[in-house]
Amino acid sequence: MKIIVTKDYEELSKKAAEVVKDILSKHANPKLGLATGSTPEGLYKELIKIYENGDYSFRKAETVNLDEYVGIDEKNEQSYHYYMFDKLFNHIDIMKENIYIPSADQENLEEATKEYDKMLDGVGRRDVQVLGIGNNGHIAFNEPADQLNARTSIVELTESTIAANSRFFKSKEEVPTKAISMGIKDILNAQTIILLASGEKKREAVKKLLEADKLDTHFPASMLHLHRDVILIVDKDAMGEE
Ligand code: F6R
Repeated sequence: MKIIVTKDYEELSKKAAEVVKDILSKHANPKLGLATGSTPEGLYKELIKIYENGDYSFRKAETVNLDEYVGIDEKNEQSYHYYMFDKLFNHIDIMKENIYIPSADQENLEEATKEYDKMLDGVGRRDVQVLGIGNNGHIAFNEPADQLNARTSIVELTESTIAANSRFFKSKEEVPTKAISMGIKDILNAQTIILLASGEKKREAVKKLLEADKLDTHFPASMLHLHRDVILIVDKDAMGEE
């Protein structure tokens, strides 16, 4: 795992954008894996700047998202569909038909997971996958458990994730308890993985990840040790450095 420590969140976001742009620029039809949550917001702002400055066009890019809540409408401001359009897609020249976000907006959720897997098989290996990490070590919504899902699944969110994500909702009760999430096998199906972690709250998860010498299903981020090209971009607060 390559580790880049930045002085703060701003520098982390700029560095991540630089790495993403450099990778995408090498491909005629780049495939980009995206995450939601607060950590990549700065990266998305930087990617918008890069696009606005005329330094990169997303016209030929395909994007694939990790997850979506079950039980909230895709037009709802709390949905990850809304987030992605609001924070990135509405501000760049990506083609709508090249955007893939798992959809839980249908009655048959099992069918939704199968459809997403089929799409993932069609898109194939992403050139770069952006990831965040949960305080409990989750990646996408693969929560700590005795077994982890290899492929897209409907998952129950843990109390810790519901509590952490309640900051985006009016109350904890409003946080969905289920999500549709890409599985570990597909998360790892990217040439390069960029894992972002910022702030003191992530310090323990980062420490655990770096110290992990076992694959631990109760700390899903440890699965990233199976991958040969992970770049951890972390600020000093998350790294525990002065
Ligand atoms: C989001 C996702 C999650 C987040 C994680 C960290 O698509 O898959 O794994 O990356 O919960 O969230 P933040 O960045 O809000 O701390």
